[in-house]
Amino acid sequence: MSKNYVSIADVKDYVGQEVTIAAWVANKSGKGKIAFLQLRDGTAFFQAVAFKPNFIEKFGQDKGEEKFNTIRHLNQETAILIKGIVKEDKRSKFGYELDVLDLEVVGGSENYPITPKEHGTDFLMDHRHLWLRSRKQMAIMQIRNAIIYTTYEFFDRNGFIKFDSPILSGNAAENTTELFETDYFGTPAFLSQSGQLYLEAGAMALGRVFDFGPVFRAEKSKTRRHLTEFWMMDAEYAFLSHEESLDLQEAYVKALIQGVLDRASQALETLERDTDLLKKYIEEPFKRISYDDAIDLLQEHEADQDTDYEHLEHGDDFGSPHETWISNYFGVPTFVVNYPAAIKAFYMKPAPDNEDRVLCADLLAPEGYGEIIGGSERETDYDRLLKKIQENDLNPADYDFYLDLRKYGSVPHCGFGLGLERLVTFIAGTKHIREAIPFPRMLHRLKP
Ligand code: 4AD
Ligand code: MG
Repeated sequence: MSKNYVSIADVKDYVGQEVTIAAWVANKSGKGKIAFLQLRDGTAFFQAVAFKPNFIEKFGQDKGEEKFNTIRHLNQETAILIKGIVKEDKRSKFGYELDVLDLEVVGGSENYPITPKEHGTDFLMDHRHLWLRSRKQMAIMQIRNAIIYTTYEFFDRNGFIKFDSPILSGNAAENTTELFETDYFGTPAFLSQSGQLYLEAGAMALGRVFDFGPVFRAEKSKTRRHLTEFWMMDAEYAFLSHEESLDLQEAYVKALIQGVLDRASQALETLERDTDLLKKYIEEPFKRISYDDAIDLLQEHEADQDTDYEHLEHGDDFGSPHETWISNYFGVPTFVVNYPAAIKAFYMKPAPDNEDRVLCADLLAPEGYGEIIGGSERETDYDRLLKKIQENDLNPADYDFYLDLRKYGSVPHCGFGLGLERLVTFIAGTKHIREAIPFPRMLHRLKP
């Protein structure tokens, strides 16, 4: 914010003083001699009150009336510079309001499409570039920002180096069915699904590394948890055991929740998020359960009155109703560990006591938010890894660099990836992932 203007978030420091605020008119009301303006400037919302007699007293009858009428008839989303005195007001939600002295229009606004009435989701999505100005969307973006900021802080504090993995790649990190392909000077290239494979090279060079950037998946599924472009934080750590990796993930997610409570408390309030629940997730240990125990538990409860998931056999993958049920059953974020090798990616290390299970974990968020982290211990043996690559119908030549890491000082190592928008949705308590990123990309959505 220019030093000439006071931001709305800071008005509490200016009680009794004259300030100029650069803002937009989010809404207005009033009648007769009084006009109320709901202002927003990106930092917060705030009410300004203009009283006609004050204007006439200050500017004379004609000029005063003209000024007041301008204010009274400002259109929604007009950009203004507004001067006034900050007053404490216990009745207003914000606690303060502005007693208007003068106003200048910076940019007009005619027929703003998003009015205070209810709009359908498609309409709002078509106007995403404007929808972002609304109170709720602003709060979600502030929470997203708090998570990003806390991520850098957490990894820096824990000795990790930010290591940027490429977005254009010649291989598939996760699976070949959800790859976006593009032409790279006559050779097929793919948009990254996860920086993991490159991060493993980073971990062998720098010990502990993380990346944080957009990844892409040609997900044909139309759910409230899937985007085709989303942001992933991948972390990779040399000489770390699977158990220690879970400890690290738990500490990270707790730090993120605390980071949002500390940095975006107003946003949580706007969204009416139950912060006692968030605090509980920080205070209580996360649950850890094996995949096979989770299947047993699901089978045991499938006939219960309040369950509505399909029967699963050992070996089947979970659908979202199963994930939701499991994490709700425990009431805290829940790690499901050691899934069947057959339903997980090629690079995971088999469990020492059971070749059919791999040393991996999905972290499932309670309240129906689904999987927020996927991670595993990595296969370190050259021959076994090569065999897995072949069994998965992948071309070993595309994974030369990755196999090399197993030839020169291969060590136990683990890593995980957190989906930023899944976490935003979970902490913000919003229902659909499309609101967790400024411009969502989904099956039928590439605009705006
Ligand atoms: O479980 P995933 O596929 O794991 C990986 O990509 C690993 N290579 C990560 C690693 O070990 N470094 O994806 C990680 C997370 C998921 O837990 C989920 O939170 C999110 O990414 N995610 C999605 N978020 C939004 N839309 C999608 N289509 C997503 N697919 C995965
Ligand atoms: Mg996963």
